Parts: sequence; C-alpha cells; structure tokens
Amino acid sequence: MLPESARLAGSIARVLPESARLAGSIVWVLPESARLWFREMSTGDLDDMAALLGDPDVMRYYPASKTRHEAMQWIEWNQGLYQSRGYGLWIMTLSESGEFVGDCGLTPQFVDGREELEVGYHVLPSLQSKGYATEAAAAARDFARDRLGARRLTAIIDPANRPSQRVAEKIGLHPEKRTRNRSGTDIVLYAADW
Ligand SMILES: CC(C)(COP(=O)(O)OP(=O)(O)OC[C@H]1O[C@@H](n2cnc3c(N)ncnc32)[C@H](O)[C@@H]1OP(=O)(O)O)[C@@H](O)C(=O)NCCC(=O)NCCS
Repeated sequence: MLPESARLAGSIARVLPESARLAGSIVWVLPESARLWFREMSTGDLDDMAALLGDPDVMRYYPASKTRHEAMQWIEWNQGLYQSRGYGLWIMTLSESGEFVGDCGLTPQFVDGREELEVGYHVLPSLQSKGYATEAAAAARDFARDRLGARRLTAIIDPANRPSQRVAEKIGLHPEKRTRNRSGTDIVLYAADW
C-alpha cells in the first residue's frame, strides 16, 4: 500500500516500479485493494480493447460488438475525456502481473435530457466473477465523490443485465427509474446521491 501522501499527489508514477509505468501514465492505485491498477488508455491498448469490445458476451447488452476501428474510436473518445474532463474509462490491469482485465471509470451521459456522471465497466469473460468489477467500480465511485466532488453517480443498465445491476447495487446505487436511452432502448437508471 502506498503512503497517503503519494496517493494524494495525483500522479503516483514516480513511486511505482518501472514496470508499472511502461504502458502509460498511472492514474491512481485503488484505495482499498492492491489487486487492480487503473491507467489511461492509449492507442497501444488497441489489441486488448478490440478483443474486449469485440467479444459478443461482453457486448451482449449493446446493439453490436465493436469492430477494431470502433475500438480505436472508443480509445480516442476516452483520451478526449481525460483532456476535457479529467476522467474517463481507464484500463484495469492486475497489479501483480500487469495482465489486462478490462476497463472501468467515469463518463458523462445524457438521460432524459439531463447530463449524468456514469460509472462503467467491462471485464474479460475469463476474469469475470472474481469481484474485479465491483472493486474497480467502488474505487471509481470514491474518485467521483472525493476527487471530483460529484454529488451523484449513475449507471445506465439494460433491465436484463443482472451482473451489471449487482455491481451497481454493491457499490450503493439503487434503481431510480426505468426509461429509454437515446436510441429508444429500455434502460434502468441506477443512481446514488450524496
Ligand atoms: C458486468 C461485469 C463488468 C461484471 O464483472 P465481474 O468482474 O464479473 O463482476 P463481479 O465479480 O464484481 O460481480 C458480479 C456480480 O454479478 C453476479 N452475477 C454474475 N452473473 C450473474 C447472472 N447471470 N445472474 C445474476 N447475477 C450474476 C455475481 O454473482 C456477482 O454478484 P454477487 O457478488 O452478489 O454474487 C461483467 O459481467 C461484464 O463485463 N459484462 C459485460 C459488459 C457489461 O454489461 N458492462 C456493463 C454495462 S451497463
């Protein structure tokens, strides 16, 4: 565990081993666990992100799996968010091995004409049901509340997506309303207000 002063500094790369710095700038270490690290996405993550977002299981509740080109657009979208907002979806890796786990983080989304801060998560099928999404989403929630000063966090979830609903529930979000997203698909808005 890093000293508090190191974690508060914003960039903690200087106190991490060289191996941890290779793939991009480390954003922060999950406060309650050393199992996962987050870092910003870069174009060097395209193979991993294309495999994740191209997986039919991972994308079961999306209109379609993403092509490699769309995975690149996803990375570029998040890079834009880091610049404009100071957050986005981050790459999750196992702290012990550096193995790619998926992505998790925060994005702005519109629901019923209102901008919401959403926590999002995608985990490789081979690494699901180990508690990684819950751990990462809890850390993203803490980042939103404690670092960004957010007063509200949401998750926009397909009514049939129980694993995602369980993750949202376990980090303290509650079903607030059923509505439709911009493409007319039914969603449940999970939310917590502080
Ligand atoms: C949602 C997702 C990120 C969860 O990742 P994960 O690392 O497996 O999550 P966790 O291990 O932290 O917890 C999963 C929870 O879902 C539950 N779960 C898993 N499959 C389930 C199912 N078919 N029915 C009900 N609950 C289920 C698990 O039991 C666990 O809850 P529990 O601790 O109460 O038992 C992963 O399933 C995923 O990547 N899904 C595809 C992408 C996606 O839908 N993202 C969310 C978009 S809103």
